[in-house]
Amino acid sequence: MNLNLRLETEADYARVEELTREAFWNLYAPGCDEHYLCHILRGHTDFIKDLDYVAELDGNILGSIMYSKSILLGDDSETVPIVSFGPLCVHPEYQRKGIGTELIEKTKGLVQNMRIPAIVIYGDPHNYCKHGFKNGLDYQVSNMDGDYPLGLLVLELEPGFFGGKKWKVKQSDVFKYDPAAASEFDKQFKEKEKKTQYSQELFSIQIRSFLRETQLTIAST
Ligand SMILES: CC(C)(COP(=O)(O)OP(=O)(O)OC[C@H]1O[C@@H](n2cnc3c(N)ncnc32)[C@H](O)[C@@H]1OP(=O)(O)O)[C@@H](O)C(=O)NCCC(=O)NCCS
Repeated sequence: MNLNLRLETEADYARVEELTREAFWNLYAPGCDEHYLCHILRGHTDFIKDLDYVAELDGNILGSIMYSKSILLGDDSETVPIVSFGPLCVHPEYQRKGIGTELIEKTKGLVQNMRIPAIVIYGDPHNYCKHGFKNGLDYQVSNMDGDYPLGLLVLELEPGFFGGKKWKVKQSDVFKYDPAAASEFDKQFKEKEKKTQYSQELFSIQIRSFLRETQLTIAST
């Protein structure tokens, strides 16, 4: 596949939002908000333009990845700027062909070149462990409440960076959007049926699942 990975331009915005809507529609909830997230992220101070990539084949945009700034807070008060990605998506008809992998690998290399020590995301482990991500618990990286959600995933780019201390990760406030505004934004797109499907139940289980430190102790004894 002769895939072209390049930075998103303003001329791509509408196509990327369409693509994102297609990829996420009914997947985690009836309908989706991720195309709205793309829209507001681009104008947000935490948006990282240099990591905003699309995957193009014969002039068609088939994949998109966007990054935002996050912060790691060490238990010794050290503060380290890092990055997160999402939304990440590939057009449903072109999934399982390696496009998502190419987008992750390309941008992972760029993040490494920027000397950013880690990428921390929320996502389905199935999609990311094969790219080297581990659960936050393995690096003692929790959410701001001190919990280790199943989907809090960490990629250490600077070996040994996390050391022995505890960290909390703070994601961009862009993710705390108003769902009503997202719903309003969706009205400009062509009508699409909202459905309930089992992937939503899987997601609902995942987002209520947490790892416990004691599980590590049990596993290693
Ligand atoms: C998640 C997502 C971005 C992955 O993109 P993708 O292009 O399908 O990913 P890849 O093709 O690189 O890898 C997916 C699978 O296809 C397999 N694959 C890759 N190339 C392949 C090929 N040529 N032939 C057969 N299988 C292939 C990979 O091994 C992987 O298998 P696995 O899931 O069993 O591990 C995409 O599925 C998507 O947009 N999903 C909906 C939105 C979403 O959930 N986004 C992520 C939010 S957490």
